[in-house]
Amino acid sequence: MKNSKKDRDAFNDPSIKVPFVCPQITKSDKKSIMDALDSSLLTDGPNLRQFETEFAKFTKINYAVGVSNGTSALQLSLKAVGIGKGDEVIIPDMTFVATASAVLLVGATPVLVDVNKDDCNISPNSIKNSITSKTKAILPVHFAGKICNMKEIQKIAKKNSLFIIEDCAHAIGTTKENKHAGTFGEAGCFSFYPTKNFTTIEGGMVITHSKKIAKYVSIARNHGITKSLKQRFSKGKPWNYDVCEPGYNYRLDEIRSALGISQLRRIKKIKLQRKKAFEYYNSKLEYVKGITIPLLSHNEEHACHLYIVKIHKDYDITRDDLFLKLSRNGIRSSVHYKPLHEFSVFKKFAKVYNSLKNSKELYKEIISLPLYSQISRRDQDKVINCFKN
Ligand SMILES: Cc1ncc(COP(=O)(O)O)c(C=O)c1O
Repeated sequence: MKNSKKDRDAFNDPSIKVPFVCPQITKSDKKSIMDALDSSLLTDGPNLRQFETEFAKFTKINYAVGVSNGTSALQLSLKAVGIGKGDEVIIPDMTFVATASAVLLVGATPVLVDVNKDDCNISPNSIKNSITSKTKAILPVHFAGKICNMKEIQKIAKKNSLFIIEDCAHAIGTTKENKHAGTFGEAGCFSFYPTKNFTTIEGGMVITHSKKIAKYVSIARNHGITKSLKQRFSKGKPWNYDVCEPGYNYRLDEIRSALGISQLRRIKKIKLQRKKAFEYYNSKLEYVKGITIPLLSHNEEHACHLYIVKIHKDYDITRDDLFLKLSRNGIRSSVHYKPLHEFSVFKKFAKVYNSLKNSKELYKEIISLPLYSQISRRDQDKVINCFKN
């Protein structure tokens, strides 16, 4: 399962020795893509159906509906439960911008709340302090692959009659007590963007227990057309369909679905490789003074999507200087994320009712190190040495 792109920087910078991520496209992935290309049905076909069925099985849920990306998964899930103009949706301040944009795209207002200092996940207390008469949903993000405190979030949602839409972009393979992320609320939304634990290049999935939500998403992703291509062309007149409300073109095509099926077959191995790399960093960095390493809990499965350390004041150099040092040594690193309250669009359109103290502090401390399934010990050592020297 050799990856020809191994060690090659995405931007062809010859000084880069350790990329930040490295998507793994194997020979069998390429074969699946070529086979799908040979079909005369290139979208809305059997590969999509199979990918959906297998993803539902993987996450142990009734329905999975493939869509064009993680953002459309979030947008359609919010719409499916009726969220729109005048409604407020509670989201963590520390997440990728798409979480908030999806709320704006359905006409609702994102309410930014604080995250826990230890795992960067949405803080249940901060949720409680931000509920108003307009709140309709909580949108937790399983940050870096670590499950949120879903028991507490479910309690708050129940008490206040709120929907839960989970952002599982980082959480392919994240489970708690054998329940996959995305199965705790009304819907779970996945992204298969190339940096994710497996990729369809662009792509996403909505999972749900609800037949009604699955039906809405599968119709809305395809212009609101009430029948699939197969249904239209296998019986009766193909133009005999209805459109009940305006829809979108958020389809996941056959090529991407075929790639998804192929990648999903390797997910157990990918997960194990990422976990080993994560644990290796932890074993070597745990004694470095002035930094905090991410912890893995025993009673839950962490998808190990991002490896984030916190750089404190008593560390030798600042977080920004560490970023520069890693760069000088040919290592790419990044920060996940600049908090939402820092962006012009959310300053204008989002609301904040409670302190964002932790996310503000974390933004100065966090740095994400290279992590991908086939990262070598040698490359990890190059990263680790930058902390020690
Ligand atoms: C937390 C989070 N939510 C949503 C998304 C959006 O996914 P996509 O880029 O597939 O639209 C991402 C993707 O990077 C993400 O990291």
